Amino acid sequence: MNDRATLPSLEQSAFFMPFSMNRHFKKAPRLMARAEGIHYYTTDGRKLIDGISGLWCVNAGHCREKIVQAVQKQVAELDFAPTFQMGHPLAFEFADKLASLAPGDLKRIFFTNSGSESVDTALKFALAYHRARGEGHRVRLIGRERGYHGVNFGGTAVGGMVGNRKIFGALVAGVDHIRHTHDPEKNAFSRGQPKHGAELADDLERLCALHDPSTIAAVIVEPVACSGGVLVPPVGYLERLRAICDKHGILLIFDEVITAWGRLGKPFGAQHFGVLPDLITTAKGITNGTVPMGAVFLREGIYQAFMTGPEKAIEMPHGYTYSSHPLACAAGLATMQVYEEEGLLTRAAELSDYWEEQAHALKGLPHVVDIRNIGLIAAIELAPRPNAPGARALDAHVKAFERGAYIRVAGDIIALAPPLIIGKSDIDRLFEIVREVLKTTD
Ligand SMILES: Cc1ncc(COP(=O)(O)O)c(C=O)c1O
Repeated sequence: MNDRATLPSLEQSAFFMPFSMNRHFKKAPRLMARAEGIHYYTTDGRKLIDGISGLWCVNAGHCREKIVQAVQKQVAELDFAPTFQMGHPLAFEFADKLASLAPGDLKRIFFTNSGSESVDTALKFALAYHRARGEGHRVRLIGRERGYHGVNFGGTAVGGMVGNRKIFGALVAGVDHIRHTHDPEKNAFSRGQPKHGAELADDLERLCALHDPSTIAAVIVEPVACSGGVLVPPVGYLERLRAICDKHGILLIFDEVITAWGRLGKPFGAQHFGVLPDLITTAKGITNGTVPMGAVFLREGIYQAFMTGPEKAIEMPHGYTYSSHPLACAAGLATMQVYEEEGLLTRAAELSDYWEEQAHALKGLPHVVDIRNIGLIAAIELAPRPNAPGARALDAHVKAFERGAYIRVAGDIIALAPPLIIGKSDIDRLFEIVREVLKTTD
């Protein structure tokens, strides 16, 4: 095991870290060496509880034997195979497996390599679908303030996190945003879905009136806006959004890169909320984070709209070299097996009451202005330090690391979403560390 003190300095390293404070981090790196179950082990040999499932993706816990073995076997057998006018059996098998878990008739699956690619793929499908039906005038894409849909151009454009958008120019034309759903004045310390705010969905009507609904192709929202601070949809909000989309012939896309694969106690967030979108984007937990992969789920009517031309024509001129990569399919199939054998796709529903109690027990600690939760997700929002937004939560993140927990922060919000295999005593331990950290963070 490496000793932290003897590690070479990373300050001059060539690695440009993504979404990171490169210089700050490289001065005092926090490095993981290995992982097992709900724990990471650092390069200096310390054990950390993984409070955010890697990056909202390792839902079954780390280095699960079945998944590791499936990937090892696959890489030795068929390392790569194209799926442009060619194929390999695992791609079909995995798509059929995923379809069996999907809600409603969202049973047609297009593979990508990430959440960002899933989002841009779904947006392109929405535009192409309308065009295929003779409604090529539907070109506008609607996102939501504080939404996060990855980092490609389409996803950045429909995303609503200012810091992720402002330095990248005009992004994509024809994009607009509905209001976010966060209303701490009415909903602070909500347990589960907040009571107030279903009417915020009517903001879509405002954009329909402004642009004319016949120009709008799709609306994309995360059922729970996780990266933007864990904003849980108010009771009735998603239903209302669905109804407005239906009224105006607009496609509804749920970005379930985080909320799928058991995070809310059902395979998909759509099933948890009982609202059926037209497309679903996923990634992350689809392979338990072991091999990069994403997927877009399409309703049958959308799929069929593409299957009308000559048989010897490519129906969708879109795809990635690594769409349905054999390693990803092998990892995904093993992941689904683990999820099903261990009941992980519904486990969050069993744990969520306990989780909620422990999360809300932090109320009253210094600087805590809100706590929210759903499924196996919680957010603890701190008041920002004057003139230093994000600094308080960043301190908390570093202190938690030193005390044995890896937690994620977005601005001054601490987000927690541990692997779904976590037990009650480790939930206690995770919140105990957060409690100690908050008590000592000025
Ligand atoms: C809702 C949502 N969409 C898209 C993405 C982007 O996924 P990726 O980082 O795999 O491109 C994320 C990542 O956190 C996400 O939470």
